Amino acid sequence: MSIKNKIIKEKLPTHLAIIMDGNGRWAKMRGEHRIVGHQHGVEAVRQTVEAAGELGISYLTLYAFSTENWNRPKDEVLGLMSLLVEAIESETPTLMKNNVRLQAIGDLDSLPLEVREKLEGTISTTSNNSGLTLVLALSYSSRWEIVTAVKNIASQVQNGDISLDEIDSDLFSSQLTTKGIPDPELLIRTSGENRISNFLLWQIAYSELYFTELFWPDFNKEELYKALLDYQNRERRFGKISEQINDK
Ligand code: FPP
Repeated sequence: MSIKNKIIKEKLPTHLAIIMDGNGRWAKMRGEHRIVGHQHGVEAVRQTVEAAGELGISYLTLYAFSTENWNRPKDEVLGLMSLLVEAIESETPTLMKNNVRLQAIGDLDSLPLEVREKLEGTISTTSNNSGLTLVLALSYSSRWEIVTAVKNIASQVQNGDISLDEIDSDLFSSQLTTKGIPDPELLIRTSGENRISNFLLWQIAYSELYFTELFWPDFNKEELYKALLDYQNRERRFGKISEQINDK
């Protein structure tokens, strides 16, 4: 039986989030410039999007560029921005063919105009697609998102639009850039680093975490199936005890 056939459709995560890491080390190992790693990373993105869509996963969020990534050498930042423009442009027909809807989260106003325009164009072109929703986290960091949400809520209280008692977990979630998107049940990080790096900190409160040693350019459909199988064999208790979950 192939790994794919072992996956139980009914037990798939609705939302899968991925920290794509290791492009630079993948390139360095080959004596190449870091941008070559990012270029190969695009192929891993393609495979992952295709596999997630085929399986029937509803949301896939990819950490493509963090707020902290702006501090990288200028040529790498420029290279990544060009790669994004190219990838969005060249992949739009495939997104349409596969019924994928594109969305983006993050401080999008801080992106170069060309990236923003391409992004907005494809978000609008794909907005009526009803298959997988692909969410690109761009110029994103969780602390930025949380601080922005806190400021919005504080100003609503100050203006008398809401009272302090109305602030609860649902209201807070509705002020985040992921508003309307269910929390991820599974978060994958590649490259052997076991950290979260300022990604979806509020949303992953109960997510299962899966870490693989593989560098992102080596990630592919088979590796995604392995992660999903691992996830399906876990017991998610949400603070309850095992018997309460199994004796329903
Ligand atoms: C992390 O590897 C990767 C990134 C910061 C960028 C990810 C971008 C892509 C895969 C290409 C474009 C994406 C899309 C969605 C089309 P790293 O550079 O931090 O690697 P290192 O830790 O080995 O240095």
